[in-house]
Amino acid sequence: MSLSLEPGLRLVAATHNPGKARELAALLEGRFDVVSAAALNLAEPEEPETTFVGNAIVKARAAADASGLIALADDSGLCVAGLDGAPGIYSARWAGPNKDFSHAINLVEARLADTESDDIRAWFVCALAVAWPKGPVVAVEGRVDGSLTFPGRGKLGFGYDPIFIPEGGSLTFGEMDPLAKDAISHRARAFAALKAALF
Ligand code: IMP
Repeated sequence: MSLSLEPGLRLVAATHNPGKARELAALLEGRFDVVSAAALNLAEPEEPETTFVGNAIVKARAAADASGLIALADDSGLCVAGLDGAPGIYSARWAGPNKDFSHAINLVEARLADTESDDIRAWFVCALAVAWPKGPVVAVEGRVDGSLTFPGRGKLGFGYDPIFIPEGGSLTFGEMDPLAKDAISHRARAFAALKAALF
């Protein structure tokens, strides 16, 4: 079996979030015929692992084995140095059932205040995994380092973007043009690593 991805191949995007399936397809530059795990009625696996890469592998493995197609999965989040890497793999969960990221951002600010640490370093991580049905799996990780600012600024992004300033910059991800963010983001870096590994 060759561990490379030929253009036109049918891939399953191991996500039940239609927005994410579209985002994954776009990042693959229309090179593949991407179908989502939800469209194939695949069960959504638990995320039992303790690392981004571990969770991406679990999701890709489950979708590949259930569908018989090569599967692509991601897992991402924000890690805060002063909180020992939290919220990390729990980044989505900190927003609660209503996916309220102003709540998640307030929680980060409050927890940092509790630690009395003045360490505002933070980094976003994106792990991507590609799994072959009953076969091998390839996983990569991308990361962007920066620092936090409160209150958040900017409405252009999503999630924790308003409080994150990438290293060397002065604008938050929430204030940056999406194309400028995409040029340096953890997701873009993970995709570059994946392309180098598989395309
Ligand atoms: P998951 O990868 O869908 O499990 O969720 C990752 C969570 O991390 C999301 O809910 C986002 O809020 C957060 N996150 C991941 N990437 C970004 C980003 O580029 N900007 C802001 N928040 C992000």
